[in-house]
Parts: sequence; C-alpha cells; structure tokens
Amino acid sequence: MHTSLKQQAIDILRMNDRGGYTVPTARLYPYQWEWDSVFAALGFATFDRDRAWVEIETLFSGQWADGMVPHIIFHKTDPDYFPGPEMWKSNTVPPSSGHSQPPVAASAMLTMMKTGGAIDRARAKALFDKLIRWHRWFHTYRDPDETGVVGIIHPWESGRDNCPDWDIGMAEVAVPEDLGDLPRRDITHVDPSERPTAEQYNRYLAIVKFGQECRWDHLEIARNGPFFMVDPCVQFALMRGDRDLAELADAFGEPGIRDEAESWLKHSKEGCETFWSEDVGGFVAKDLRSGGLSTAFTNASAMALYADAGTPDQQNRSVAEIAAILDNCSYGFPSWDPRDEQFESRRYWRGPIWSVVNYMIAIGLADKDETALAERLRADTRKAVEKSGFYEYFDPLSGEGLGGKLFTWTAAIHLAWAMGDDMLQAEGE
Ligand code: GLC
Repeated sequence: MHTSLKQQAIDILRMNDRGGYTVPTARLYPYQWEWDSVFAALGFATFDRDRAWVEIETLFSGQWADGMVPHIIFHKTDPDYFPGPEMWKSNTVPPSSGHSQPPVAASAMLTMMKTGGAIDRARAKALFDKLIRWHRWFHTYRDPDETGVVGIIHPWESGRDNCPDWDIGMAEVAVPEDLGDLPRRDITHVDPSERPTAEQYNRYLAIVKFGQECRWDHLEIARNGPFFMVDPCVQFALMRGDRDLAELADAFGEPGIRDEAESWLKHSKEGCETFWSEDVGGFVAKDLRSGGLSTAFTNASAMALYADAGTPDQQNRSVAEIAAILDNCSYGFPSWDPRDEQFESRRYWRGPIWSVVNYMIAIGLADKDETALAERLRADTRKAVEKSGFYEYFDPLSGEGLGGKLFTWTAAIHLAWAMGDDMLQAEGE
C-alpha cells in the first residue's frame, strides 16, 4: 500500500509537469504557483534531483525587477482560470500576479542541499542572489516602517486564502461600482460550497484593482491599500527562511549576508510580540489598519515553533493548544480551531487540513523535541491520503478529500515524508 501510494505520488508530479514547472492540479489551477512549486521541488527531489532544481529555477525566472517572486506565473495563457493576466496587468515577462506568497524557497533549498551532493550545492549557489533579493523585498516592501513584522496586501498572499483570519481586514474593503460581473471559473470546477462566496470574491478583486491601478507600487499598497494584515504563516515562513538563508550564506562564505539575515531574524522575533493573543493562547493574524486580532488558533499559529517564535512560555502554550486541537480531529491539523463556532470542516481554509502546512508544523514540533506530536501529525496526514487519495485538502473530522484531485503538493509532501522514512530505515539497518 505504502509503496504504491509513493508511485502514485510520483505519477501525479510527472502528470502535472508542464515542462519546467508543475501546475498544482489540472484545470482548477493551470499555472505555476509559488509555494506549490517549492513544495513540488521537495517531492521531485526524492526521485529526480535535476527536475527538482528546474522547478525552483523556473519559479525565479518570474522574479520581478524589485525582487518579488509572484504568487502565480502565467507561463501560457489559459482561459480556464480567472483572474488571469488581463486582470493583474503585471507588465512583466512572463506575466504574473502582483503579490507574493509564503517565502518557503530558502528552507527547501537548504533541505535539498543537505540531503544532496555537490550538484545540489552548485544549483543552490547559482540561485542564491535571487533568493536574497526576494527576502530583502519582503522586509522592505511588506514592513516599510521596520516593525519586525511583515504585512500581506491580499488574503491570497497568505496562501490561506479564505481563512476567517481575514474577515476583519476584508470587512473594510470597499467594492468599486465599476468592478462588474466577475467571470469566475473556480466554481465551475469544484463544489461551490467548498469555495469562497461571491461577496468575498468581489472584495478579492477590489484589492487587485487597487494594485493594478497604482501599477503595483508596493510601498503605496502597503501604506494606503485596502488591506494590510499580519499573517503568522508568512511571518513564520519568512523567519524560518531567514534562518535558513543565514545557514546557506555561511555555507557559501558570505558572512555579510549571514549577518543581514540574522539581524532580520532578531528584529522579527521581537516583532512577534505584537500579534500574540493571550485569549487564544497563540500567535494570530492581526489587522495592521485597525490593530484588531483574529480570534482563534489556526494551522498558521501552529507554525510558531517552526520559526522558533515566542518566549518559552508562549511556545509551551502553543504546544498545549496544538495537542488539544489534535485531540479533536482524527486528521489534523485544521485550518481553524474546531472548538470555535466559526469552524467549518469542509470550507476552504475555514477548517480543512492541508499537507504542506502540516509538514512545516511537524518540523517545528520535532525541532522542539515534541516528537510524539510531530509523528502523530505525520501519521494523521498520511491516514487522510490513504483514505481518500491525493486531494487538495481534507476534512479533519472524516478524512474526506476535498477541492482539486491528483494534487501536486499533497503528493510532494507524501514523498518528502516517505523519503524521511526510507532514510530512517536505512539508518536502522
Ligand atoms: C489556493 C490556495 C493556495 C495555493 C493555490 C494553488 O489558492 O489557497 O495556497 O497556492 O490554491 O494550489
């Protein structure tokens, strides 16, 4: 069973390969998505190292002149997807969306270098300048006032698109009268009850319109755009990434860059204090316009250990919440606390589980010697895949597969974790 699932996962990556980049799944997501691609690379790295590096190299080929790596790169136009290049008007080659997504590449590149050989080191080194420029972009344009905390300008920048975390910020987004009727495609591919509502979608597009009208002037958007919130997932991915960037810099004999990354990290650790919620017992999303905090523990809150964020006491409280929430779900870790009334086990980022976030949470738990919890999370994720297949996401209570099928990142994480098993077995032999 285990071996054949591995083969199915490999087949999914090969099938979703469009030549140099992988689509998250056919039809629903027909382009290259930033964090999906980085996780795809981790999956490819278990059986085809060259292809793994090509995935990340193609991603960086879409990097903007200012350093941003966009969340979607439109290598080829596909009428099946909305909003496509004509809505974003990025004015770049290749065309892309106008904001980023969680910066997970540094960590994946370090993992690939550590598990690989001289070729992996050379490929990582060749991308290193681009990687630094992307991290600098985040610190410059997403934290223009140097608070130690980066904001996101659109819920889509979080990668956790429809989480209740964004409700406070989204409530303030005005929908322009000339927005018109939106030709949505997503609800023709999957069950509308698993997708955002029309009202939410109009607001998403209102933010895109603001960005496009100021020609993606990112300082203007951070200061005056319709939406600016702290996302624990982006903040923690960036912190872990800065830490891993420092390690890469060390390996490449770049002490200046290592110091730069370490000073970002130090400042970010201080900044985390501003989005800790005593009520929730965890780090939560925060609206940077109103100062309001979100109200429940999420899978992003659970990434605190991955970033080594917080005091020992805050970390202990986070671990206690993680354990309590896992006790409430057979297939952890949910994107919203199941003990909260807003929890919806099937709706997009309002309850379901995602393998990629589980992967990062489990690494953080293992780093903190919470080995049993880390193992449980890994086993729970595998159980969902065994039960339903490689779906985009899963119901944490029933393990039912939801959203897109034959999904790249679910397959990739399965492989990355299976490789860990193989390595453990090899060590034990
Ligand atoms: C959705 C997810 C996002 C992901 C994308 C492609 O928009 O919310 O995280 O990157 O799909 O899989």
